[in-house]
Order: sequence, then structure tokens, then C-alpha cells
Amino acid sequence: NEDIFVLGIETSCDETAASVVKNGKEIISNVVASQIESHKRFGGVVPEIASRHHVEQITIVIEEALQQANLAPAELSAVAVTEGPGLVGALLVGVNAAKAFAFAHGLPLVGVHHIAGHIYANRLEQEMEFPLLSLVISGGHTELILMKEHGDFTVIGETRDDAAGEAYDKVARTLNLPYPGGPHIDRLAHQSVEAVDFPRVWLEEGSYDFSFSGLKSAVLNYMHNMKQRGETPVPEAVAAGFQNSVVEVVTAKTLRAAREFGVKQVIAAGGVAANKGLRKSLTETFEKENIPFFIPPLPLCTDNAAMIAAAGTVMYEKGLIGDMAMNGRPGMPL
Ligand code: KG4
Ligand code: ZN
Repeated sequence: NEDIFVLGIETSCDETAASVVKNGKEIISNVVASQIESHKRFGGVVPEIASRHHVEQITIVIEEALQQANLAPAELSAVAVTEGPGLVGALLVGVNAAKAFAFAHGLPLVGVHHIAGHIYANRLEQEMEFPLLSLVISGGHTELILMKEHGDFTVIGETRDDAAGEAYDKVARTLNLPYPGGPHIDRLAHQSVEAVDFPRVWLEEGSYDFSFSGLKSAVLNYMHNMKQRGETPVPEAVAAGFQNSVVEVVTAKTLRAAREFGVKQVIAAGGVAANKGLRKSLTETFEKENIPFFIPPLPLCTDNAAMIAAAGTVMYEKGLIGDMAMNGRPGMPL
């Protein structure tokens, strides 16, 4: 009945992060170095710049996480690292740091799927109940995932084109909003009383998949047509219309899946789960439905290493240990 302390490392995109988590549930330290300022002027994450920043930051961030936890490496049970998916050059920095650390201190090495991490961010707040439905919605993902027990993931629906966050960022760009655009669209949407009527994309009946590129194009066409006619679009109304469409479809599909699979808990994860409109809609929907619904606090919704340590702890307990042949896997399946 020894306590398990796992060091988590995350470098799959544009945050260099390290964290120590106790027993898969309790954050002891959580350090995130964001690169957002460096990518902002390019309007998106530049992979080469991301890798360089990770190289500069990784050692500092790991040391800081251990120092804040007041733990020596020998007191750790394992090292967990994001193995994929993500930018290959970015992943490699974290994987190599984790391998070196594990080798130097004789610790087991655990490779974690980034999305498993996003889901397990919830366990840092409350115990998970199964069957569990998870909505993972971020800049790279829009997925509905069913879990029957710890470490068991079935993707029941996913985006066929853009991720929701990607669509948010692209629509934001046409409205001349800074990157990342999601929070700005969210803010504008809440300032508006009117909303442009954009289509809802449901796909085939019964499908849990998503598609956001058609909606994105509808927004771009609307902007273009307004300009052609010499009219000025109202950014708040465009933002509200776009957000209404995303929120309505995502809420309806999540609810239908929760009913079909009789889940005991619904959780949301990923950067777009920070969206005020989506949070409100999901919270109200599942309150009415009487299914417990949770979204982790904002810093745990976006990329961090505590979620990787939390997911890694479950894998460690199941004996899913990696070895020194571990590599970054940009297209790693869940
Ligand atoms: O999970 P995340 O930090 O990174 C990954 O994609 O893995 O998510 C970032 C995404 C960006 O597309 C950003 O625009 C979006 O989350 N986002 C939001 C909001 N806050 C962040 N989208 C809509 N509303 C928000 N409030
Ligand atoms: Zn992420």
C-alpha cells in the first residue's frame, strides 16, 4: 500500500510540461511552459519552432516539477510521457527526455496516448464511474469515447475533417481575431443578441461522427458574400451563429450517445471544453438527464503533464511498461 508518485512529461504540441501526481489522483506539482507567444504571429503552431522551444525548456520544466514536489528521482515510481499523437519533432523531445530520466534513475517508462491524458485529467478532480462517455474536443481532436473500465477506450465517433478547435481558429482568422481564436469567438458570441443562421451538420442518421469543415466554409462564404455586396458583417453575430451550430450538434450527439450506452458519467476534455457556451449547454442538458457531468478546471482542460501522469499511473498499475525502444508516434491510435 505504498503511495505511487509518477512524473508526467508532455511535449506533443506547444506546451512543455512536467508534473508529479500521487496515486493517479492528486497533483503534487504541475509546471507548464507555454510557447503561445512565439507562434502567435504565424497564426498557428510552427512545428520547427515548437521543437526548439521544447529542447530549451524540457530540463528546466522537469527540474521545477520535482523541486515543487520536493521529491528526489529515487522516490518516484515511474516516468510517464506522451508517446503520441502529436508533432513528431515535439514528441521526440519529451520521449527522449523521459527515456534518459528513466534510464538514469532506474525507473519504469510508460508511454501515454495524449487523448487518454485529456480524459484522465478528470480523475484529478473526482473518481471515474463506468461506463463513462468522454467528449474530447480540442484543436486536434473531436471524439466521443466510451470507457467500460480504466484504460479501456472505444472511439464511437470522431471528426471526418476539421477538429472543432481548428474550425474555431480558422473562423477567428477570417474575423481578424488573434490566435488561438477559440476564446475570442466565445467572448464575441456572448456579446451578441443576434446570430447568423449557419447550417447544422448531422451526417447520416445515427452517426456519432462530426464534420466542421462545411460549417467553416459556410462562415467564409457568408463573409465573402457580405463583402461582395458592400455590406459589413457583424463579427458578434457571425461568432454567435458559428458557436450555436457547434454547440447544438456536439451537445445533441453527446446526449444521444450517453443514452444509447447507458453511461454513469459524462466528462469533457480538451481546449474547446473551456468554451462557455458549450459548458453551459452540456451542463444544463445532463442536469435534466440526471447523468453526472464534469469538466475539469481550465488549466487541466488544455495541454498539461498532470493528465499524462494520471493516465500513466493507471497504465503503470496495469503493468503496461515501455522500453528504451520507445519512439514518438505522431499517428498513435488510442
Ligand atoms: O487542448 P488544447 O489546448 O490543444 C490541443 O489542441 O491539443 O486545445 C486548443 C484549442 C484551440 O483550437 C483553441 O482555439 C481552443 O482549444 N479553445 C477554445 C476556447 N479556449 C480554447 N475554443 C472555443 N472556446 C474557448 N473558450
Ligand atoms: Zn491536447
